[in-house]
Parts: sequence; C-alpha cells; structure tokens
Amino acid sequence: MSKVEVGYTDYLKETLDGLEDGLLLTSVDKKGEPNVMTIGWGSIGRIWGKPMFVVLVRPSRFTYGLIEETGEFTVNVPPKELAEAVAFCGSVSGRDHDKFKEKGLTPLPGRLVKSPLIEECVLHYECKVVHKNDVIPGELAPDIIPEFYPKDDYHRVYFGEIISVYASRDIKALA
Ligand SMILES: Cc1cc2nc3c(=O)[nH]c(=O)nc-3n(C[C@H](O)[C@H](O)[C@H](O)COP(=O)(O)O)c2cc1C
Repeated sequence: MSKVEVGYTDYLKETLDGLEDGLLLTSVDKKGEPNVMTIGWGSIGRIWGKPMFVVLVRPSRFTYGLIEETGEFTVNVPPKELAEAVAFCGSVSGRDHDKFKEKGLTPLPGRLVKSPLIEECVLHYECKVVHKNDVIPGELAPDIIPEFYPKDDYHRVYFGEIISVYASRDIKALA
C-alpha cells in the first residue's frame, strides 16, 4: 500500500486513541536488525519549537538498549486487524523472538532514520531523540508508584523529534 506524507497533527486523535490498545515502536541495532515493541504510553506535542513524540520505555526492554545505541525510533499506528500482533509484540522480547517474522510484519526502510516503518500499519512517525530523562521516584505522586513501579523499573522518557510522518493512502483502515 503506498504511503503519503502528512502533517504531524493530521491524525492526532487516531494516534492518541491508538495508545489505548497499543502502538508499535520500532528500533534497530547497530547492524540494522529491527525490533518492534508495543507502547501504550506516549504523547505528541511541540517542545523547543519542534514537533515531538514523547515515549516511555523501561530499562528492562530490549528496545531500551537499541534506542540508547542509535538515538532514534519510529512509532506506527496499527489497524484493528493487527490486534493480535500488537498483543504479541507487547508480551515477548526481541531478545528471544524475531517479532517481525513471527507476526508477518513487513519492515519498510525509514525515510530519515534507520529504524523501519511497518508496512501493515497506517500511520508512521520517524523520530530522533533530542532529550531523555528518567522518571524520578521522589517526584512522582505516591499513589502511582505501587501500581506502576512495584519492581523499581522506572521508565526512561525519550523526547523524539518527529522528523517525518507518513500515512497509508487508505487511512480509513483505522475506522
Ligand atoms: C498494550 C501494551 C502497552 C505497553 N506499553 C509499554 C510502554 O509504553 N512502555 C514500555 O516500556 N513497555 C510497554 N509495554 C510492554 C512492552 O511492549 C513489552 O515488555 C515488550 O515485550 C518489550 O519488547 P522488547 O523487549 O523487544 O523491547 C506495553 C505492552 C502492552 C501489551
């Protein structure tokens, strides 16, 4: 399916709604081997005069090491038919699985980053990390800690400048 360039706010609602079920974040290692993980937390906005996709990744994820190595990632919005792949990519690690192969996902070369887009998805954000910081336990509302951090696995927050956004021509697949 062909992809067309769109603005980063054109499908904001679809993207933010998609976080509820999970979006697919891709990254690569130094050799160019791709990995994909599901994310449910994130935010799109404007910071330092740049369009920004902020994502939160726990240090235990294989993805964490990859983003640390390359300083980039893509976020892909899946159509509903990919629900099973989204659940899979959010439950097994790229350390033990080739999730692209096992779920029949097709990596498409990114335009401006080495991390691939996922052809079967309908929206794609290419991002370059311009800042990162860690969730500070002492600065969190106390009720959040027992629910989300029983193992002290505090997220790293990546601020990814959105440098390119593409959509499938048939964006209706989201409906
Ligand atoms: C719906 C859903 C949302 C998720 N959101 C996040 C997230 O925002 N950040 C995170 O670190 N892990 C999140 N996870 C867990 C990772 O996707 C999961 O641990 C995955 O196996 C990590 O893959 P990796 O080890 O290949 O990086 C989520 C899982 C699901 C099912």
